[in-house]
Amino acid sequence: MKLFETAIKENIETEEQNKNNFLQDVIAGLRQHPKHLQSKYFYDQRGDTLFQEIMNLPEYYLTRCEMDIFENKTAEIAAGINAAQTPFDLIELGAGDASKSMHLLRYLKNELTDFRYMPIDISGNILSVLDEKLKKNIPGLDILCLEGEYFDMLYKAAQLSSRRKVILFLGSNIGNMELEEAYRFCFELRKNLNKGDIVMIGFDLKKEPNTILNAYNDAKGVTASFNLNLLERINKELKADFKVDKFEHYETYDPLSGACRSYLISLEDQKVSIDDAVFHFAENEAVYMEVSQKFSIEDTEKMAAQSGFTQVYSIKDSKEWFVDAFWKAV
Ligand SMILES: C[S@@+](CC[C@H](N)C(=O)[O-])C[C@H]1O[C@@H](n2cnc3c(N)ncnc32)[C@H](O)[C@@H]1O
Repeated sequence: MKLFETAIKENIETEEQNKNNFLQDVIAGLRQHPKHLQSKYFYDQRGDTLFQEIMNLPEYYLTRCEMDIFENKTAEIAAGINAAQTPFDLIELGAGDASKSMHLLRYLKNELTDFRYMPIDISGNILSVLDEKLKKNIPGLDILCLEGEYFDMLYKAAQLSSRRKVILFLGSNIGNMELEEAYRFCFELRKNLNKGDIVMIGFDLKKEPNTILNAYNDAKGVTASFNLNLLERINKELKADFKVDKFEHYETYDPLSGACRSYLISLEDQKVSIDDAVFHFAENEAVYMEVSQKFSIEDTEKMAAQSGFTQVYSIKDSKEWFVDAFWKAV
């Protein structure tokens, strides 16, 4: 009984801490110039559903390309991560609904590979979707869901087991960081791993600019709703009064830098209250929401080398639009 009460108390404390972090990040972001909201907060229950819808859009080629790799090159991926033939923890950062990694998990399970799957995600909602789906589709899979921030949960995973680590970081999640942040992220990732551990990272490659722009600017407006949903979430969870229809989604792609950026534009001069703070938005003022960085193969090799990894090989989809790079910690 005591243990149960302690667990409930810890859960309530974590929820309060999460809400407080959310509030502090939103307020700090809106005090910046230009105003900024962090895209890791996109993923509440509605955000998760909208992202699943985005993955099925005709314009959003990224999921189909990486799915092509995971469906058709499964044996190659499995051979790479299991070359050492020793038990391992397969940790997926920002796993989402694991729609792509599921093919690899099934293959490894059928091969009787000794591994435990540990999906990490900041969204408890998507982890419960994933958990139910995988238990149904791959009976007997050894799975432990870890809800929280990437590195907090990676640390937890390392405390739970000393087996070698294989990290999956798919969907070009790495592209949702500014380049310097992505370099810092990979460096930090290396610090949390041991020599010989493996990382597989999905990178979206530079390509025809309109193809990229359309992927984040779909005709049905699902990506627009996905961005605007963060304002709805702030209203619901942080006692705010955004008039969501007074903001509009705007997307840009710069083929030189490879940065695709999304903004919300204030359609009029307006004030918004969040908790005890009040923010002014000028007419046409842009709130910067998210970057989706595009890469060349040379960029991925450079990133590996500068953060303590070596790029052993990389697997492209049949269109050569997307690459999963296979890194080893050196
Ligand atoms: C763009 S989705 C991609 C999902 C999946 N990797 C895929 O390829 O389909 C990003 C996922 O990462 C999670 N995420 C974003 N930032 C995170 C963070 N800082 N820590 C943990 N999870 C995060 C989100 O909740 C979401 O499920």
